[in-house]
This record gives sequence, C-alpha cells and structure tokens, in this order.
Amino acid sequence: MNNFLTSLVSMFKYKTKVAKDFAIMQLSPEVKQDIINNFHKLYYDSSVFGGTWRSTSFLGIPIQKAPMEMYMYQEILFDTKPDLIIETGIAYGGGALYLASICELMNHGNVVSIDISDTGNLPKHSRLKYLFGSSVSNEILDQLKKEIIGKKRVMVILDSDHSKKHVLEELKLYCDFVTAGNYLIVEDTNVNGHPVQPDHGPGPMEALEEFLALNKDFESDKSKERLYLTFNPKGYLKRLG
Ligand SMILES: C[S@@+](CC[C@H](N)C(=O)[O-])C[C@H]1O[C@@H](n2cnc3c(N)ncnc32)[C@H](O)[C@@H]1O
Repeated sequence: MNNFLTSLVSMFKYKTKVAKDFAIMQLSPEVKQDIINNFHKLYYDSSVFGGTWRSTSFLGIPIQKAPMEMYMYQEILFDTKPDLIIETGIAYGGGALYLASICELMNHGNVVSIDISDTGNLPKHSRLKYLFGSSVSNEILDQLKKEIIGKKRVMVILDSDHSKKHVLEELKLYCDFVTAGNYLIVEDTNVNGHPVQPDHGPGPMEALEEFLALNKDFESDKSKERLYLTFNPKGYLKRLG
C-alpha cells in the first residue's frame, strides 16, 4: 500500500474509534456542554491563582484573552478585512497589540483602543492608536466619529467595564460604528454564571440579550464558538444590514 492509502486507512480507523469512544462516553449535546463548561471553569478560575489568562502574554505584553479567542479573532480579521478596529478597554495593551500585529501581517487595517486610565508603558505599533477617557464620554465618541471617516469596514470590540449598565450603553453608542458584514464583539459574556463568576451580577450577557431583543440588525454568530472555549458566548455579533 502506498503512503497515501495507508494514511487514509489509518484515518478511517481513527474516525471509527473516536465515534465508538464518543458513543461509550454518551457524548450527547448535554454531556458535551458539561465538559466544555467544566474546562471553561478550570481555565477561567485558575486565574485566581495568577494562572491561565492572568499569565498570558503576546510578544511579552500581558493579554487578557483566551488563546482560542485570539485564534478566532485572527480568522475574523482575515475574513472581514476591517479598515478600522475599535477596542474599548486597553489594560496592558496586549489585545490591542495583537490586533495591530494581525493587521500588519495582512497589510491592512488600523486599531484604535480606548481606556479610562493609562497603565503607562503601553506597547507601540504603527497601526495602533490609543485614546484615553471613558468609552461612553462625548469626548471619546467625538474622536471616534472622526476616526471612522472614510472607513468602509469597521469592527468593534467591547472589553471595558463589564457591568450590564455600561455594556448596554456601549452597545447602543457603538453599534452604528459597525458596518454591514462586520463584527461587534461583546467580551466576557461568560460572567454571571455563563458559566463562570456566578456572583458577578448582571453583566455583558444580560446587556447583550437586551440589546439583541430590540436590535434586528445584529445576529449572534455561533460558528465563532466552534473551538469550544470562548469567554464570549453569544458575543460574536455580526451586522446584517
Ligand atoms: C478586561 S480589561 C481590557 C483587556 C484588554 N482588552 C486585553 O485584551 O488585554 C478592561 C479595561 O477596561 C478599562 N475600563 C473600565 N471602565 C472603562 C470605561 N468606562 N471606559 C474605558 N475603559 C474602561 C479598565 O481600565 C481596564 O483596563
């Protein structure tokens, strides 16, 4: 048998074995969701001891995103080619630097990242600009209105204050920046028991649900959750029209 046939047979055998294993484990959608939630809790809660997302960095800069999320962002950026990405919540700048670096690799797009406070020593990148102030203040919104002039494709990522009130305000103020076919990503919809931090209180998920009930221009793109671990369940909103 040539190499190609050998690997085809071996792949077939492996597929059969996995199908059997799944059946033995009774991997129904509920059981599968249970495994995903338990891994999610393990990954998220390890941060309490300084692990996982509290000790993750991109090119040496702390980034508060799960690696699966970063991979998904890269796919979205490549598929939708935004001219401008607006991110609320800079923290140490790892997320902003990551987005700008992907833009650089694609030779397309720029990033504007906003935070209420400057941690100092933020990473620099020719495709990245920082604005300081509250994401919902008139000063910041006026600057963003100037930034989007002439941009055909705009994407927004909300990752600042995770209270329901603030996220809902951001959703209402930022949704019109997002162009058709591009994404409005609501981060950390996982808190308040979805499935982590059950005592958080109403947060991004509750804001998102209220927003989606009234706004039919956006749809949650569940295909962006296919890597199983996401801190943004239901949070990948695609603008339809
Ligand atoms: C989760 S961190 C951002 C993480 C970052 N996007 C990353 O990927 O590494 C949240 C940030 O939001 C900022 N923040 C809180 N309230 C804000 C507001 N009203 N406007 C803008 N930023 C705010 C905090 O100062 C904090 O740095």
